[in-house]
Formats: sequence, C-alpha cells, structure tokens
Amino acid sequence: TSPGGHPAAGASFVVVANRLPVDKRVLPDGSTVWKRAPGGLVTALTPTLASRTGAWVGWSGIPDSDENPHVDGIDIHAVPLSGDEIADYYEGFSNATLWPLYHDVLVKPEYRHDWWDTYVRVNRRFAEAASRAAAQGATVWVQDYQLQLVPAMLRELRPDLSIGFFLHIPFPPRELFSQLPWRTEILEGLLGADLIGFHLPGGAENFLSLVRRFLHADASRDAVGIRDGYGTVDYDGRTVKVGSFPISIDSATVATNAAATGDRAAQIRAELGDPDIVMLGVDRLDYTKGIDVRLAGLERLFAAGRLDPAKTVLVQLASPSRERVDSYIDIRNRIEQTVGHINGTYGTVDHPPVRYLLKPVPRDELLAYFRAADVCLVTPLRDGMNLVAKEYIASRDDLGGALVLSEFTGAAAELTEAYLVNPYDERSVDDAIEAAATDPADVRGKRMQALHDQVMTNDVDQWAQAFLDTLAGER
Ligand code: ADP
Ligand code: F6P
Repeated sequence: TSPGGHPAAGASFVVVANRLPVDKRVLPDGSTVWKRAPGGLVTALTPTLASRTGAWVGWSGIPDSDENPHVDGIDIHAVPLSGDEIADYYEGFSNATLWPLYHDVLVKPEYRHDWWDTYVRVNRRFAEAASRAAAQGATVWVQDYQLQLVPAMLRELRPDLSIGFFLHIPFPPRELFSQLPWRTEILEGLLGADLIGFHLPGGAENFLSLVRRFLHADASRDAVGIRDGYGTVDYDGRTVKVGSFPISIDSATVATNAAATGDRAAQIRAELGDPDIVMLGVDRLDYTKGIDVRLAGLERLFAAGRLDPAKTVLVQLASPSRERVDSYIDIRNRIEQTVGHINGTYGTVDHPPVRYLLKPVPRDELLAYFRAADVCLVTPLRDGMNLVAKEYIASRDDLGGALVLSEFTGAAAELTEAYLVNPYDERSVDDAIEAAATDPADVRGKRMQALHDQVMTNDVDQWAQAFLDTLAGER
C-alpha cells in the first residue's frame, strides 16, 4: 500500500458496473455455471475492456458471493450483496424506483426511504471496491443508474483519480425527475465525475437544466452535440463536462460471426415450417420493450386479413429479467396470455404463428435467428439505445431483412432508414410491420444498406474512445 493508503499496483483503467460481465446461475439440479450477464451494458463493455486490459468491479448476480470468476484479459473484483440488499438496492431502488422513473413513468415508481438507505450503503461499497482496485492516477469509468452516487463517493476517497460516468438508460426531463425525493443527492453524486455521458443530447440537456434548478449550479445553456459540443457545470470549485455519446456494438465481430453461422438460418426457417415471413423479437422481458405492442400489432394485422397467419411466424426470444419485481411479473403474465390468445385464435395444431421462448439464447444461435428473420421488431415504449436493433443490422451483410424500430429508442436518432414507428399509435405500428414485411426487395435492400453502413462505421470502440478521449482531455 502506498503512503496515500491505496494500492501501489492497481489497475490503470477500472470499470465499475452493477454487474460483472458474467453472472453465476444456479441450475435446477443445484449446480452452478458462469454465463454472460444479461443486457446491453455488458454487451458493449466486454469488448471495450478486453481491448484495454483493466479491472472490472461488479456483482456476480447471486447473494453473498465475492467469488471472482475468471474472464480472459479482465481483472475481476466481485462486490458481494446480501439477499436483503438485492431486494432493496437492486430490485427495489434500482428497478422499482429509478428504472420506471427514467423510462417515462411507464409504471408508477415506488419511493421508499429504506430502499434509498440501502442504495447509499451499496454505492459506498462499490466506491470502496473501486478505490482498492485503482492505481494512483487511474481512470475509473462508473456505469449506469444503479451507481449514481459512486462518482462523488469515489472522488472523496481518491481525489487523484480521473472519474467518468455513463448512463445507459434515458435521463428524464425535469417534470419527471423532480418526483424523486432524493433528486439533489443523485445530482450531487453524479457531479463527482469529471465527465458525465448520456446516449442522447436531450438527456445531457435535461441534466444541465436540473443541476441549475436544484443545485443552483452554473451550467452551460448551449445545445449539446453528439460526441462534440459539450455542456459544462461549475460546481463545488470544479468544472464537470457533460456530453452525448451514443453507444454501439462490436459491429465487425457481430458481422463476421453472423456470416459464419452458415446454414443454420435456413435450418431455422425449415424448423418453423418454411413460412413466407419470419418476424423476430429479441429482448429482456421488460415492460419498456413493447413486446405487447408488437403482439397487439400482429394480432390486428391477422384480424384485418393484412397478414396471413398460415404463412407468417413471429419468433419472440425473451430473456427472463428482474423476475421478483411486481411490474415484471405483470408484463410476463400479459405477454403469455396474449401469445396464447393469438395462437389459440389464429393458429392450427401444427402451425402456431407465435413461437415464444423465455430463456437466454446462446450467442451464435441468436445471430442465426437474425440471419433467418425477414423482419426484426424493436418496438419499445422507451429505451436508452437498444442494441438489438444494431446487432440485427450488423448481422445482415447480405442486406436481407428489414428493421421496424420505435421512435422512442435512442437508436432511432441514428437509424433513420429503419421502418420507424410510434408505438403509441396503432396505425403507425400496423402500417410499419406490414410495410417491412411486404415492401419490394429493392426497397428493403436500400434501407438495409444505409443502416448497415451506419452501424459498421459507428461501433462500440468508437464510442469508448470518444468518451475516454474526452475524459482524458478534461484532466
Ligand atoms: P437492455 O440493455 O435494456 O437489455 P439492449 O437491446 O441494449 O437492451 O441489449 C440487450 C442485449 O442482450 C443484446 O446484446 C441482446 O442480444 C441480448 N439479449 C436480449 N435478449 C436476449 C435473449 N433472449 N437471448 C440472448 N441474448 C439476448
Ligand atoms: O443496459 C441497461 C441495463 O439496465 C444494465 O445496467 C443492466 O446490466 C442490463 O440492463 C440488464 O439488467 P439487469 O442487470 O438488471 O439484469
């Protein structure tokens, strides 16, 4: 240990996220396996960190474990959470308070002081773990809404560090954020960073307006640009930069691996009964994702005779998520009821038009589904970015397929050649699904070409580099 009390030999680059890149799952027979952790954050950051050699501080996904799994090229520091902490910090404050509040209050957020107390305590534990992992003068990159207090806590412990924060979900407007009883604490926590990144300029501008209102901070008023044109906040004797950095995927790897899935796509279509149209949805099972929106659209198209249920299949791959949170139990029940209703009404014994799977699909198999799908349906009611949209596009170097994309995703700001829909407007949903499924091949191909070019040139490495260069410039 150095005279300052921190490790002489720590990592010079540290990612701090609620989850580790892998989580430990308990199988029905009681044995355990480590699997890639769910969600877009891990998808985006795993390649970023693997190419930079550093440490990752996070939770393993199960109670009371500080077991450090081996991940090639990444020094893992597990942070233990007890069963009660998982209930109050993760399922409670993170996913029944912040998640719905930041996603347009799609369900009513619960504001509980006991959850907040645990959120503070767990954030401190992550800050302490990051402090132990980081070398003198290191760069520490804190991720997402579960850890918004970590930047200020870490700065207090380690003023020598360069601290970045990135929010992977939307940052809400003043009218919604103001509901939060701990709004000033959250804003102050974030301002411990040197650079705060959001997907879209709108999120950054919401933040600037909020620190002006609630902290009386001196915040810039000029419009924020994408990867350029930063905002600034003068607060507590420091200047914090605020910017927009739309996240992406490891596009080249996805494209190569998708092309290498070979005949599997044709095999999938055969297994589905060789329908004329294969549609695909791929999501964590979350009420923000609009799985219900696309199912309702499909049902209306069948009912109106605009699509033929005998010749159409929708494959909905859903990955179980936050399964003990009430709003997740509700949406699962609603989706399963609707799938049953559509298949019962429009299916036959050997041809149910909706195939629904509630389990994570292995990566290569997922890419083969992307290659097999004529249409990918991405219809969230609100989503910070949505990486599934980008994965589908990257997978289609054959320029086949068509993307239906909600305007309420961050991805829609860049993927303007998609079949864009307003998920709140039934006509818009129905027309877009029908057009994506039935437009002539040359129209669909032209759109896919533009989308493919966009995703191949704007990859996750560019995202990470833009953020880290800006952070380095700040110091
Ligand atoms: P979020 O971060 O909200 O989960 P994203 O679309 O940004 O949403 O990222 C989701 C990630 O999880 C993507 O990499 C996607 O491929 C993966 N994923 C989602 N659903 C499944 C599934 N059913 N099986 C396997 N991977 C999935
Ligand atoms: O990308 C948003 C996000 O909430 C990540 O922070 C998170 O790791 C991922 O989705 C999956 O959710 P969870 O970690 O709650 O399973």
